[in-house]
Amino acid sequence: MIVIAGSASPELSARLAKQLKCQLIKPELRRFPDGEFYVRIGAEVRGEHVMVVQSTCHPQNDNLVELCFLLDAASELGARRVTAVVPYLAYARQDKRFKPGEAITIHTVCKMIERAGASDVVTIDVHHEEITRNFSVPAYNLTAMPLLGRYLNGLRFKDPVVLGADRGASGRAKQVALEMGAEYDHLEKQRISPEKVVMQPKRLNVANRDVVIVDDIISTGGTIVEAAKVLQSQGARGIYSACAHPVLVGKALQKIRAAGVRRVIGTDTIENQASVVSVAPLIANSIH
Ligand code: R5P
Repeated sequence: MIVIAGSASPELSARLAKQLKCQLIKPELRRFPDGEFYVRIGAEVRGEHVMVVQSTCHPQNDNLVELCFLLDAASELGARRVTAVVPYLAYARQDKRFKPGEAITIHTVCKMIERAGASDVVTIDVHHEEITRNFSVPAYNLTAMPLLGRYLNGLRFKDPVVLGADRGASGRAKQVALEMGAEYDHLEKQRISPEKVVMQPKRLNVANRDVVIVDDIISTGGTIVEAAKVLQSQGARGIYSACAHPVLVGKALQKIRAAGVRRVIGTDTIENQASVVSVAPLIANSIH
């Protein structure tokens, strides 16, 4: 078994290779003067089960192309099996035509990964589980929510409640809460009038309680900032947020903190200062 580290996932690749007690290859990656990529796998992969680990986070298009080059090279060099480990799958939110004529970009992304030579695919908390059905090779979507729950459980909250950022995140909130032995709910938007929408927890009272807002992705931070405002007005004690994918565009982290959120806890599906939980054990278990 060999782990090939894509440039977007160096830490996770190293952690995965350590967990699997297998060889870690850092491919040679350069750019030609005109901007084209040069990719070289400088080790023998013939007959091996190779895992190419590469998140397709920002810069999404570069990371996606690098992933495809590595998959194709490993496959052409005679690897027995080439697993595409794509912890964060870009374009997953464009999974239908919201307006006539739109490209369903996640369809194209899945075709690219498969055609490049993936024998199978592993993703983490993909936006909608059904996306994996776009692959005709086996595709496995794992969830980091129990790992996040275990981490959060160590933070010793006071009477915690776990809230999905919206109805779509309620299942994720439940998985986190089960690990914490906490209550869970989700935030719901209610239209009061054509001009006024209010957001509030569907069932539970958050007054004097520590609240963890859970989502799959935190991108601009807009969702968490809005949720934090509401929860503060309802008397929440400490507000925290947790996600699988800390995309954190621009000044998202500062905006979230300025809104009174004490911590943003994410995983290393995207490697940055919020990635405090590693999904390496999760991937290693699934590979085993
Ligand atoms: C949307 O459906 C996702 O689950 C997240 O809620 C969304 O991507 C968060 O985006 P932002 O941080 O920009 O509000």
